[in-house]
Amino acid sequence: MSRTQLTRGRELNHVAWLYDPLTETLSFGREQRFRIKTMELLEVTPADHILDVGCGTGTLTLMIADRLSPQGKVIGIDAAPKMIAIAEKKSRRRVSSAQFQVGIAEQLDFRDNVFDIVVNSMFTHHIDHDLKQRFFREAWRVLKPGGRLITADIDRPTTVLAKVTGWFGRYLLLQPELEDNLRGRLPELMAAAGFAGVRRLAHLHGLISFFRAEKPQQERAA
Ligand SMILES: C[S@@+](CC[C@H](N)C(=O)[O-])C[C@H]1O[C@@H](n2cnc3c(N)ncnc32)[C@H](O)[C@@H]1O
Repeated sequence: MSRTQLTRGRELNHVAWLYDPLTETLSFGREQRFRIKTMELLEVTPADHILDVGCGTGTLTLMIADRLSPQGKVIGIDAAPKMIAIAEKKSRRRVSSAQFQVGIAEQLDFRDNVFDIVVNSMFTHHIDHDLKQRFFREAWRVLKPGGRLITADIDRPTTVLAKVTGWFGRYLLLQPELEDNLRGRLPELMAAAGFAGVRRLAHLHGLISFFRAEKPQQERAA
């Protein structure tokens, strides 16, 4: 197993074994709805080349792989080797074509212009402001011109319960990485990295938004 990649991001190597059961419990059984919504908004076509950043135990990556033809490809990366080990185990069990590797979002180990879609799910609230800026620039770099970034993550809360939950996490669980998300700053960070057409596609549970952003056909990175 490769070593944990050095990052200031909150990688979850130490709790990887708990991640799947805990996600199901903490989402009050709503994980499946969230995954189905993400898949719907991804609009995968069978030959797409897709990168899932901060893929965790690979639940979404594996769902994407099921939609691909042999010409398509999906790679999940995560800074936590134990997350990747679990994802690989799940992949072997399902005989999936999904590929997994240890890697960090702020320094993607891929060439420029190679992916049709970069997706990230519940990931950006694990990285601070500077790493968010670096990640969005890296996502821009590895996307093909005309490719898209799909982000599903915590956003400015729109219900009282969501406000309490979000700011509880920020101040009582001491997670400053949540600040940009809770203040609704993800779209401006994407635009600052050079993305065009940044928009919210949907909003779930008063706290999670789905964003789409495009790498223009001909433009320079920010
Ligand atoms: C909340 S989990 C989300 C996992 C998965 N995308 C999902 O939807 O279930 C966030 C993941 O980001 C990973 N992570 C944190 N910092 C990272 C970084 N700088 N680069 C790559 N992954 C990172 C953590 O190890 C963790 O697996």
